[in-house]
Amino acid sequence: MSFESDVRRGLGTKPYRLPPHWFYDELGSRLFDAICLLPWYRITRAERRLLHRAARAMTQATPRPAFVAELGPGNGEKLTLFLEDLGGAPPILLVDISHEALAASAARLAKAGFGRVAAVRGTYEAGLARIARERPRRGSALVLFLGSNVGNFEPPRAARFLRDVRSALEPGDGLLLGADLVKPEKDLLLAYDDPLGVTAAFNRNVLARMNRELGADVDLTSFAHRAVWNAGEGRMEMSLVSRLAQTVRIPGARLDVRFRKGESIFTEASYKYVSADLRVRVEAAGFAARRHFEDRAAGYALTLFTAVNRPR
Ligand SMILES: C[S@@+](CC[C@H](N)C(=O)[O-])C[C@H]1O[C@@H](n2cnc3c(N)ncnc32)[C@H](O)[C@@H]1O
Repeated sequence: MSFESDVRRGLGTKPYRLPPHWFYDELGSRLFDAICLLPWYRITRAERRLLHRAARAMTQATPRPAFVAELGPGNGEKLTLFLEDLGGAPPILLVDISHEALAASAARLAKAGFGRVAAVRGTYEAGLARIARERPRRGSALVLFLGSNVGNFEPPRAARFLRDVRSALEPGDGLLLGADLVKPEKDLLLAYDDPLGVTAAFNRNVLARMNRELGADVDLTSFAHRAVWNAGEGRMEMSLVSRLAQTVRIPGARLDVRFRKGESIFTEASYKYVSADLRVRVEAAGFAARRHFEDRAAGYALTLFTAVNRPR
């Protein structure tokens, strides 16, 4: 799996689509950090508050984890705050496709005094294999999957992924899962098509990345950012819509791509959940929900699951 091969596969046949993890190069990771500061994108602030509550509850109820891993930590801010609240300094494993994200999160953790930090630059799947290998024999492991990253998977892939997480863990290990909930369409549209145009820049950055890394000749202004709520599928959809009929040359992927006016590249799905449904799906993968924290106003939930039986 490489950017080049995913571009060739995703833009080599119609309908055009690109996997969302390619947003996150250095610029994309910083644009995502900027999105988290936008007043219309409430996920980050809501999850930070819920993590604070979760850490307090976890210190009262269970022994501290002997190993902590986060899949897709981004800039590492949430993990650092959570571990400070939790107390102790377990070995930490960071898994992220973005070099920028790993560097930022490792630096933040080190500054906060968390010294035993290892990193996997790669996909979540690569990280899970490493978690299974490095999880200590004594004590429990805790995996964090925050930011509603799970929402980027189509439901069958989400089910497979959750089973893979379960397979990497032992009974009694924890999964702290953040999920954005179904909410009014107008709130979702503002979160994914903000008036400052930061999300549009984040979306278009995948085209800028094709120019930078694959020598493409995309005129960034010739693609419009589109964010729509697909009520039938229960997901926000982001795409890049060609404003004109054009052919884009991508030498690094050995590809010329023709666009009709209005033709689009599907760049990201973000599924929104109903808490009870998500719980059923995660439990079907071999977990049991232990604690649930929800911010009704922001429409966000954080649930602590424990690995129990083998996946069904
Ligand atoms: C939406 S950001 C969320 C960051 C952070 N968890 C938060 O909640 O603010 C997604 C992060 O996961 C990483 N990422 C996305 N897809 C990935 C994948 N398939 N494998 C590994 N990392 C991925 C991105 O590089 C980015 O740092």
